[in-house]
Amino acid sequence: MDENGKIWMDGKFVNWNDANIHILSHVIHYGSSVFEGIRAYDIDGNVGIFRLKEHVQRLFESMKIYRMNISYTPEEISDVIKETIAINNLKKCYIRPVVYRGYGTFGVDPQKLPVNIAIAVWSWGQYLGDNAVEKGVDVGVSSWRRLAPNTLPSLAKSGANYMNAQLAKLEASENNLDECIMLDIEGFIGEGSGENIFLIKDNIIYTPAISSSILKGITRDSVITIAKDLGYEVVQEKIPRELLYVADELFYSGTAAEITPIRTVDGIDVGNGKVGSITKSIQSEFFNIIRGKSEDKYQWLDILD
Ligand SMILES: Cc1ncc(COP(=O)(O)O)c(C=O)c1O
Repeated sequence: MDENGKIWMDGKFVNWNDANIHILSHVIHYGSSVFEGIRAYDIDGNVGIFRLKEHVQRLFESMKIYRMNISYTPEEISDVIKETIAINNLKKCYIRPVVYRGYGTFGVDPQKLPVNIAIAVWSWGQYLGDNAVEKGVDVGVSSWRRLAPNTLPSLAKSGANYMNAQLAKLEASENNLDECIMLDIEGFIGEGSGENIFLIKDNIIYTPAISSSILKGITRDSVITIAKDLGYEVVQEKIPRELLYVADELFYSGTAAEITPIRTVDGIDVGNGKVGSITKSIQSEFFNIIRGKSEDKYQWLDILD
């Protein structure tokens, strides 16, 4: 991360190292934040933000679920995101808007507290390690389940949800794995700690339905769109764990992980242990768009002037 950068906080740009909040802020004690992770790419020398509108919309939906209100519209937040990239002079970056309950009263009740917002941008490479996108990753099914329905809402991208994700990620690291797969409370496949999952069996593409306590990923939606346009059948339903072990291909999708193939699950090779042809064809469509190598036919990129 570039510590010479500027971070936007509640209407002002502040120096990277001055972007602080009070230790008694509600968010620190009770996990009361919602946020987004967005990527911007270098498209022939211009900055192209990937699916900005959908990410900002999801941020506002997360806020709505938690009854958090800010005095900015989605359009204004989108403009500030663009301004933050420009002021930091970045051609490609990761973008992190975060809305959080701040400092004022103490105790769980958030009603009298300010709702603050900050936006930071920085350069970020491959999330699951060098060459993960090309070679694939080794993963395991976690002993930790995803959030049970009607406990913490998984459709809201909230900081608190990532306490669950951290447990599973830590367990994966302790087992020398690159990432985990969490099952939902009923034992059906859920998602990774920061990725959705896709499974291919007999040329049909499966991904868990949103009823399996997943985040409704924007990359997931992009994969579904690309796959259908390539002529594949895409099924969103509850998926039994054991399909992981007999799948022909598996991959993760996510803003940070982009499209990362999975080569082993619990030590078992996925298919023949090599990146599969359907995964490759979806990756190629996706990467061609975000690298500006093919036409942005879905209008997913917001190009900065
Ligand atoms: C738990 C979880 N699932 C899925 C995703 C993928 O979502 P998206 O493609 O919108 O980044 C993410 C990343 O944001 C995540 O944190």
